[in-house]
Amino acid sequence: MPVPTMAGRTAIITGASRGIGLAIAHRLVADGAKVVITGRTQETLDQAVESLGRENAIAFAGKAADPAHRTSVVAGAVAKFGSIDFLVNNTGINPVYGSLLDIEPGVAAKMVDTNVLAAIAWVKACRTAWMGEHGGAVVNLSSIAGLKPSPGIGWYGATKAMLSRVTAELAMELAPEIRVNAVAPAVVKTKFAGALFEGREAEVAATYPMKRLGTPDDIAGLVWFLLCDEAGWLTGQTITVDGGVTLTGGLV
Ligand SMILES: NC(=O)c1ccc[n+]([C@@H]2O[C@H](COP(=O)([O-])OP(=O)(O)OC[C@H]3O[C@@H](n4cnc5c(N)ncnc54)[C@H](OP(=O)(O)O)[C@@H]3O)[C@@H](O)[C@H]2O)c1
Repeated sequence: MPVPTMAGRTAIITGASRGIGLAIAHRLVADGAKVVITGRTQETLDQAVESLGRENAIAFAGKAADPAHRTSVVAGAVAKFGSIDFLVNNTGINPVYGSLLDIEPGVAAKMVDTNVLAAIAWVKACRTAWMGEHGGAVVNLSSIAGLKPSPGIGWYGATKAMLSRVTAELAMELAPEIRVNAVAPAVVKTKFAGALFEGREAEVAATYPMKRLGTPDDIAGLVWFLLCDEAGWLTGQTITVDGGVTLTGGLV
């Protein structure tokens, strides 16, 4: 069995200055890839690039849903590293908690814009710039909140359900040149998910068959595999990675 290697390949990973995105960046760099990372804050991006190695990574500050930012990142990736072989749509936002009935329409639209429409736009930009001619692989960050009702974060879950469906649609549209898959994590210990476990981690972890919450590295390994040539017959899928919790019927 050949050892997978990403030497000579380049990945754009959105929302990768910390958490799951940064772990994915480290995993790909460890396998020889160059990475282009994004986020809204220049300072944390600079720290991330430092940790990845300046020869391996460049960063662009901006919002994932901003078309001008997207154009700069895609052009910058090709100019610096010569290709865009992989795209990880990792950015996802969830600014509200509570009943679906109380969601403010403007906030709901912003979440769809960032969690779903921006992901499609990133795929389109990468396809136009490189992948359409040379092929590529995409992974979208969905969530188990998109697989079943998740009280309190219902609209976030609905956007992730939409993202998983979009993943399948894009896979159909873009095959055979470009593979498109998604991953659906349960609770992973990051700043984003703090409200779901901080102060009661042992209690939450006890509900997981694997008796622990996820780490960013748990997700990074799966994303790395989905991007690898070894996953070459795998497209349109959302892979659950959840310490077994969805088997229990437990809450997110
Ligand atoms: N953690 C979990 O339990 C969990 C579970 C299921 C799915 N997910 C999904 O996994 C993905 C990553 O989450 P995470 O837990 O790693 O979050 P995190 O640790 O909070 O990291 C989020 C990253 O995205 C950047 N970011 C935030 N909003 C952005 C925007 N509008 N445009 C560009 N960059 C932005 C942040 O940097 P700045 O703040 O500087 O912009 C940061 O680099 C999300 O799609 C999330 O929905 C997470």
